[in-house]
Amino acid sequence: MRKLVEDIFEVGVINFDAKLFDRLIPLPDGTSYNAYLVKGSEKTVLIDTVDPDKTEVLIDNLVKTGITKIDYIIAHHAEQDHSGSLPDILLLYPEAKIVTNPKCKSMLMDLLSLEDNQFQIIEDGSTLSLGDKTLQFIYTPWVHWPETFSTYLPENKILFSCDFFGSHFATSNLFVKDIAEIYEPAKRYFAEIMLPFRSQINKNIEKIKDLDIEMIAPSHGPVHNDPQFIIDAYKDWSSEKGKNLVIIPYVSMHGSTSKMVTYLLDALIERGIEVKQFELSTVDIGKLAISLVDCTTVVIGTSTVLMGPHPCAAYAAFLANALRPKFKFASVIGSYGWGGKTVETIASMLTNFKGQMLDTVLAKGEPKENDYLALEKLADDILQKHKEIGVMD
Ligand code: FEO
Repeated sequence: MRKLVEDIFEVGVINFDAKLFDRLIPLPDGTSYNAYLVKGSEKTVLIDTVDPDKTEVLIDNLVKTGITKIDYIIAHHAEQDHSGSLPDILLLYPEAKIVTNPKCKSMLMDLLSLEDNQFQIIEDGSTLSLGDKTLQFIYTPWVHWPETFSTYLPENKILFSCDFFGSHFATSNLFVKDIAEIYEPAKRYFAEIMLPFRSQINKNIEKIKDLDIEMIAPSHGPVHNDPQFIIDAYKDWSSEKGKNLVIIPYVSMHGSTSKMVTYLLDALIERGIEVKQFELSTVDIGKLAISLVDCTTVVIGTSTVLMGPHPCAAYAAFLANALRPKFKFASVIGSYGWGGKTVETIASMLTNFKGQMLDTVLAKGEPKENDYLALEKLADDILQKHKEIGVMD
């Protein structure tokens, strides 16, 4: 357990060894499941719990605090990495009420074996007194499920934000020690978890803007004792304006698509456009997701497999569609042997993409002079589009 300020402790779990979240998201820096114990003069509250795999660590930490009674457990979010320990904690502290909103209660009852009478329901803006401390509840939906909310503690100027402003970053430091160190894990977290909910994030930031916040205590990663850093970063990442950046996720089976990608990359660099290239059979999808936060154009490069895109390219298209990034232009380049429906298949997967498909460039076998000319034209078109929407530096 680690002390934030007098009577407020972080009692969750630092998981340096976590490698994959949701059996999907790589965790190069591990993660943490933060839970906070707040001791008021009259009532004691536990803010969130931890992943059920780590319940024993939470129990150990609670025992170390010396508390014998928990009056309330705030459940900000029903996802199991924060709610999964609730049943076991309630066995240990049976008098505790789960304090949450109606939507979260319903989800918790679906996900865990909890009874109706174990809950105490809050509303947006309602408060709960702990004696000398007050909890003020603020609905912050869609960061990143519909039920999510945050809690503000005015006496200590702390915002407990759950996933909002979090980062998958295991560290023994309770507070952010180095902004440069936390920037990428926080952005990776935003990209993988928050990116589809940009407009709602902007509304939530607007909602907390008048609070006097000295610390943001999220449920993953270190506590922000410079809250403006992470609020400003979220504003930037949530903006609808992309940067002068093209990303090229690609996969090449025998080298032809790779030659085309290299050619296009050089052509774009010559035109003053930043480019990031990702080889899809080995890519860290977190890195790809981070670049999707900022890019204005996505060019998918793919070989043809069984008349369609390579499965790795289809995976990238699925990810780019599901995360609803802000890119405005897309294209497909690649190579085929005898035919196929690669472009149609990828286009049909981008159902959330409301931008413009630029000309595609598909070479029969090895790229030839006419294919390279088409790549030059594609680079010209991208430059023109980036100028038109004002993202050139
Ligand atoms: Fe960290 Fe959405 O749970």
